[in-house]
Amino acid sequence: MKFHIHTYGCQMNVRDSEAVEALLVAAGHEKAAHEGEAELVIVNSCTVRQKAEEKAIGKAGNLIAAKKLTGLMGCAVKRMGADVFKRLPKLDFAVGPRAFGLIPRIVEEGRFPRLELGDDLVPDCLAAHVEGGWQAFVTVLLGCDSRCSYCIVPDVRGHEYSRPAREVVAEVAALARRGVREVCLLGQSVLRYGVRNTAWDERDAPSPGGYTEAFPRLLEAIASIPGIERIRFTSAHPKGCTDELVRAYREFPQICRHLHLPVQSGSDRILAEMGRRYTREEYLAAVGKLRDFDPEFAVTTDVIVGYPGETEADFEATRSLMDEAGFDNAFVFKYSPRPGTRAAALADDVPVEEKERRDQVLLEDQERRGQERNDRLVGTKREVMVEGPSKRNKARLSGRDGGNRIVVWDEGAADVRPGSLVNVVIAEAHPQILVGERLPHCPTT
Ligand code: 5AD
Ligand code: SF4
Repeated sequence: MKFHIHTYGCQMNVRDSEAVEALLVAAGHEKAAHEGEAELVIVNSCTVRQKAEEKAIGKAGNLIAAKKLTGLMGCAVKRMGADVFKRLPKLDFAVGPRAFGLIPRIVEEGRFPRLELGDDLVPDCLAAHVEGGWQAFVTVLLGCDSRCSYCIVPDVRGHEYSRPAREVVAEVAALARRGVREVCLLGQSVLRYGVRNTAWDERDAPSPGGYTEAFPRLLEAIASIPGIERIRFTSAHPKGCTDELVRAYREFPQICRHLHLPVQSGSDRILAEMGRRYTREEYLAAVGKLRDFDPEFAVTTDVIVGYPGETEADFEATRSLMDEAGFDNAFVFKYSPRPGTRAAALADDVPVEEKERRDQVLLEDQERRGQERNDRLVGTKREVMVEGPSKRNKARLSGRDGGNRIVVWDEGAADVRPGSLVNVVIAEAHPQILVGERLPHCPTT
């Protein structure tokens, strides 16, 4: 059967969709060239904010109306449970974020409607990858135990579970043999790898509430796999920015000097209410540690504006923290109450227009800050992994430096393949993009 998968949400969902694609192909189905051609369409949903959920449900509704065999997977399914069939009475099947391994069997059996919310993963489904490509996501930590007041993720993605390190290493080695050169290790709070359950062996006791050396050890093991030239991971929590992590950065140049470190707020009062388990000062100390190690270390973040009770002073604290941290990029979200979370019991008292204003102010600040941070890179040489033609100007090539910054340049030689490393000297800086000139071929280190 020809199928198409439509993905909303974070990299975790992108990765799960890729695994489903690989599982369906292995079961004899075929990826459609585009949605119109597909008989089966699966929507992978997000529920982190209400709008995200509505988009996925709306999309599934349209597909049902177009008489496609329609499945919904991911976070919104787990949040809604059986109610998903009230919203979409003609939906064929719905599977929760840990149950996607069942999809080939569900399609095969053809008994609709069907709902699978179970948390027991089908063995091996996590390691399924689509052939080809030079870049891959690898899930290392499932779920989340952090319970921030506003966040629905622990309810939908379940408890933390660290995959055994030998399984992860074998998966990355297999990817490397197929030509993958960059891996991105995924977990909601990936530095908590090995904290709740043992990831290495029985002698390695998990250290509840603390950060073990399990993640830096995993980085070390992956860095020694031939062919893996770049290692990224996301998302991080400042408590995980340990000396062991910095040591791993220092020892292994393959580990990209970029960390996505969501801060959420710069106000100690709001941080405490959110249950983030750090203060503004502790957060800035973590950023300082990374920038002491490498002043060009790229730090990006997520911020929520309009959390219940957020005053103008709290908001200004967020603004000033963002300046002090000197973020290279920031994603700003307007607070959205999620059913069942602790914050949902509080009045959502910041008016929509005020959330909008705060959002705009932070985006404008970041635009200026991004320009300033990128200006400092003019004249420097960046090692860039080639991704392909630039979206805006097909005559140019585009790639990313270790800091995840987008770099574009005019490419004379046609022999540059996606996934290869080239050196580019930066000539021009913009808030979100660097423009440079390719240096004549020189062996990459
Ligand atoms: N409202 C708005 N933003 C949220 N996020 C998580 N939960 C909510 C919510 N209820 C944001 C956080 C997180 C990002 C993925 O989404 O900033 O880091
Ligand atoms: Fe990702 Fe969270 Fe959205 Fe789920 S709810 S797709 S974990 S962002």
